[in-house]
Formats: sequence, C-alpha cells, structure tokens
Amino acid sequence: ICTKKSFKYVIIGGGVAAGYAAREFVKQGLKPGELAIISKEAVAPYERPALSKAYLLPEGAARLPGFHVCVGSGGEKLLPEWYAEKGIELLLSTEIVKADLHSKILTSETGGMFEFETLIIATGSRVLRLTEFGVQGADAKNIFYLREISDADKLVETIRAKKKGKVVIVGGGYIGLEVGAAMRINKFDVTIVSRDPWCMRQLFTKEIAAFYEGYYANKGVKIIKGTPAVGFDADTNGEVKAVKLKDGRVLQADIVVVGVGAKPLTDLFKGQVDEEKHGILTDGMFETDVPGVYAVGDVATFPMKLYNDMRRVEHVDHARKSAEHAVRAIRASEEGKCIDEYDYVPYFYSRAFNLSWTFYGDNVGDPLLFGDRDPTSRKPKFGAAWIKDGRIVGTFLEGGTDEENKAIARVARAQPSAEHLETLKREGSTLDISM
Ligand code: FDA
Ligand code: NAD
Repeated sequence: ICTKKSFKYVIIGGGVAAGYAAREFVKQGLKPGELAIISKEAVAPYERPALSKAYLLPEGAARLPGFHVCVGSGGEKLLPEWYAEKGIELLLSTEIVKADLHSKILTSETGGMFEFETLIIATGSRVLRLTEFGVQGADAKNIFYLREISDADKLVETIRAKKKGKVVIVGGGYIGLEVGAAMRINKFDVTIVSRDPWCMRQLFTKEIAAFYEGYYANKGVKIIKGTPAVGFDADTNGEVKAVKLKDGRVLQADIVVVGVGAKPLTDLFKGQVDEEKHGILTDGMFETDVPGVYAVGDVATFPMKLYNDMRRVEHVDHARKSAEHAVRAIRASEEGKCIDEYDYVPYFYSRAFNLSWTFYGDNVGDPLLFGDRDPTSRKPKFGAAWIKDGRIVGTFLEGGTDEENKAIARVARAQPSAEHLETLKREGSTLDISM
C-alpha cells in the first residue's frame, strides 16, 4: 500500500539550508501542516561546520543538541520539538529516490509519496571518493570521509580506538586543514598530503599558505605537497596500514581521512531542470526553470549580481542566506509582490588550532599582503587584499576581531579604489599594516 501525503511546501534535504528556510517560513507566517522537510539524515538540521572542528575534539566536544541550526549565526537553536510545535513535519531517515517535478511528487526509498505545490531543493553535496578516481585499495577499512554526522561518529569511534596512532589526511583543502588540526589536538601523528604545490590553493596565495603550513609544522603536523595519494595497503583484517604517494613515498597509517572535494547532489533532477556549473540553475530568487521549484545552498548555480556572472557556492553563509531569500521570494510571489534579487558578497571562513580567518569577495587580480605572517609569532595577525582593475575586490584577515571582520566585509562589498587601502587600515584600526 502506498501512502501519499500532500504539503503546500516541501524541502528536500535536511541540512543547513533546510533549517534556515524553516525558520524563515515561520517568520513569514507558516500554518501548521503546510511544510515538510524530508531528510535522509537521522537528526534535525544542524550546523554542519561543527563536524570538522569542535565535534572531533578530545575535550569539550560539540554534540547535538548543542549545534542545531540556527546557533551558528547567533540565532535560536531549533530542536526537534520546535518543528513539532510549529506544525512542520520533519521526516528524518527518509531518502527520496525519485523526484517527478512535472507531477510534483517525490518518492522515498520505502515507497512513501510526497506531493508538493512548491518545492525547495536543498540536497547539498556528497563527498568525492577516491574509489571514483580508481585509486587502488581506496575501499580499505579506516579510510574516512566527512559529510554527515554519521560519518563524524564513525571517525570519533576510531579516534578512540586508535589512540596516538598515525593519521594520513588526503587533500590539503578545507577538510584537510581542519581535520588535520583536530587529529593533532587528539595527539595523533598527522601527515597531510596535498597534490597541489601549496594548501588551499583555491583561495590562498602561496604566501598565505606558507603561514599556515609553517604554523602546522610548529604544531607537529607534517605536510607533503605536490604529490597525490595513488594507493593504499591494508592488513589481513582489511584495515588500512599504508598510503602510497605518486612520488614513491609510503606513509604508515592507522587512520586515513580524505577531503578531496564535494559534488552537488542533483542526480534526482537530471533532465528535469536546467543545470550549469554542475549545479541547478536558478534566477536571483532561487527559482529554477520549473515554476514553483526552487534550489538553494550548495546545489544552486545563481546569478552573482556583484560580479555579473553565475556561481555556485559551497559554504555555510550562502546556504543560510539563499534559503532565507528563497522563502521570502516564495511568500512574496504568493502575495503578488516582488523582492530584490539576491545580492551576495561571498563569505568563507575557517578555524583550526587557535587560528581563525575570514575572506570576503573575490580572490581575483593581484593580492597585496600586510601584517605579521610569522608563524612563530605569539599572536600572528595579517591580511590580504585582492586588487583588480585598481579596485579592492577581495579581503582576507587572519586573527581579526568581529569589528575588523565586519570592516573587511564592507570593503569587499564597496570595492573601493585600491588607493584607499588606507581606509582598510583605518577601519581595521588595530591592524599593523606594513606594506
Ligand atoms: P547540507 O549538506 O547542509 O544538507 C543537505 C541535506 O540533504 C543533508 O541532510 C542530506 O542528507 C540531505 N539529502 C541529500 N539528498 C537527499 C535525498 N535524496 N533525500 C533526502 N535527503 C537528502 N562552510 C563554511 O562556510 N564554513 C565552514 O567552516 C564549513 N565547514 C564544513 C565542515 C564540513 C565537515 C562540511 C561537510 C562542510 C562544511 N562547510 C563549511 C560547508 C557547508 O556546511 C555547506 O556549504 C552547507 O552545509 C550547505 O548547506 P546545504 O543545506 O546546501 O547542504
Ligand atoms: P576542497 O575543495 O576544499 O579541497 C579539496 C582538496 O583536495 C584540494 O586541495 C584539491 O587540490 C585536492 N584534491 C582534489 N582531488 C584530489 C585527488 N584526486 N587526490 C588528491 N587531492 C585531491 O574540498 P574538501 O576539503 O574535501 O571539502 C568538501 C566540502 O566541504 C567543500 O564543499 C568545502 O567547501 C566544504 N567545507 C568547507 C569548510 C569551510 O568553509 N571552512 C570546511 C570543511 C568543508
């Protein structure tokens, strides 16, 4: 027997964007029974960034319900009871395996059918696996990926089981640097392997990366650059024991954590919506070419007004804001009203050890660095400004205060003439900017 439930609004995916969308629906006046959130995860929406940071710490680790959305942006924590109180149906551990956008019906793996009037696609991304690239032995035990809380739980269990062992991290991007630090704090012998000539190459210049690489080295983390992992050896139990690098080196490993990028989860909608840049194409309201179907967060390729191009952003601030914008647009269109197009300044950040950086804008043009980039300094603090066509288009700050971070955000939005780097100096008043 097939069950079919009907809702005015359905959100597919129960991650960051879904949680912030739910809060916005309530702000806009949601009636009980109108909204369902369908998630394959077993828990209510939470702040995913915690998984590669505080969740992995040996002491005072973050645990649910402590980091349900919307605490990450200083908002109210939405516990499962909140959804019940608001009459929002939170369907957990429910994977949608078929989406028919024409007949407006989603089908779960157990055959449940969900009918919607308006759909928000918020399926996020999945990890890229080394097995997809044909890396030999990549299916050995104790090779971990990190996307969902269930992945983090498996890693935490193994951290406890393999105390003080050797960890190899494959990938020198966000996951690589954050998890590498967390594993070192757990007293593992940590080596990060990056196929690129420096870490976080998608954002950092070589000089910026040199600071972080130096800092990690001082913490006892080894970083091997410029060579990928090409294979793994396992013991008779099938547990990983060594990582083979392209340059011939072999690293002993009790645990491997892989962070080699993510892929937006758009498969369910293939052929039904327009796509661009591996994402679902939307307008400035996050509506797709199918009326009433919206896409937000990691999966959306949207008009980036500030740069007059189309982009996909895989970061939490955009997941939150795009979700809120889509909900406001949905409610406005129901009332025959209009809201402004999404006008976003990209914002990325990371935290590891005692470090904390923020980046706003676009990392194009010529970067100009200032401040103290000595990794052995007691309190290193430095920044960078990317200058294109004589204007500051991107700003970066390590170790800034909230006020200073707000100031560099304003600079990235205003794109002042680079001659006005003095403004940056004034706004970030405690910065010692020596150029
Ligand atoms: P998200 O991935 O949050 O949610 C998608 C949800 O959809 C998941 O619950 C998934 O299970 C569900 N789903 C997918 N397919 C489904 C289906 N067919 N049926 C049912 N449910 C389905 N960003 C940042 O700016 N700063 C940071 O510090 C970090 N840190 C960080 C750490 C880690 C470990 C990760 C993995 C990611 C980050 N990020 C980050 C990135 C940030 O978390 C990410 O951009 C947002 O979570 C994206 O939000 P979404 O809601 O789009 O997807
Ligand atoms: P990433 O794109 O940041 O980094 C991937 C790294 O892996 C890059 O350095 C790349 O050169 C390398 N790489 C790619 N293919 C490889 C291969 N075949 N072999 C070896 N190295 C390879 O991705 P990630 O660190 O895996 O993060 C996954 C997702 O989670 C991303 O969407 C990211 O934005 C998000 N995330 C964000 C944050 C943050 O914003 N602070 C933190 C954690 C995760």
